[in-house]
Amino acid sequence: MIERLNHVAIAVHDLEAAIELYRDVLGADVSEPVDLPEHGVTVSFVTLDNTKIELLHPLGNNSPIMSYLNKNASGGIHHLCYEVKDIFKARDDLLKKGMRILGTSEPKPGAHGKPVLFLHPKDFCGTLIELEQI
Ligand code: CO
Repeated sequence: MIERLNHVAIAVHDLEAAIELYRDVLGADVSEPVDLPEHGVTVSFVTLDNTKIELLHPLGNNSPIMSYLNKNASGGIHHLCYEVKDIFKARDDLLKKGMRILGTSEPKPGAHGKPVLFLHPKDFCGTLIELEQI
C-alpha cells in the first residue's frame, strides 16, 4: 500500500529561523513559505535528493499543530508522509483493518494540491502518518 517516503514534517515555533537554519547552516534548498488555511499551517519545503522536509508553522487560532508545539518547546518531528497510488483504496482498506483516520475520512488537498489523509498516531506506533496520493 505505502510506497516512497514523501516527506518528514517538523513543527517549528519560528518559521523564519527554521528556514535560515536549513538554508544557511545546512546549505539546503528551501522554498518560500505557503499558507494552507484549510490545514491551519504555513509550510516551507526543504528539498533533498531522496525526500523532503516540511517545516510546519501554525496558521490561525485553532491550528492542529498548536497543541503539539505547546508540548514541545523546541518543536519536533510532527508526522511522516508516505505516498500511495490510490488514496480511496488505501482509506477503505485501512478502515476495513480497523485503523482510524483523522477528521471526516475524506481526502483533502495537501501542500502540493494532491489528496491527503492523516492516520491516528495511536494506531501507528505513536506516529502521525499522512498518506498522499501521487
Ligand atoms: Co505533510
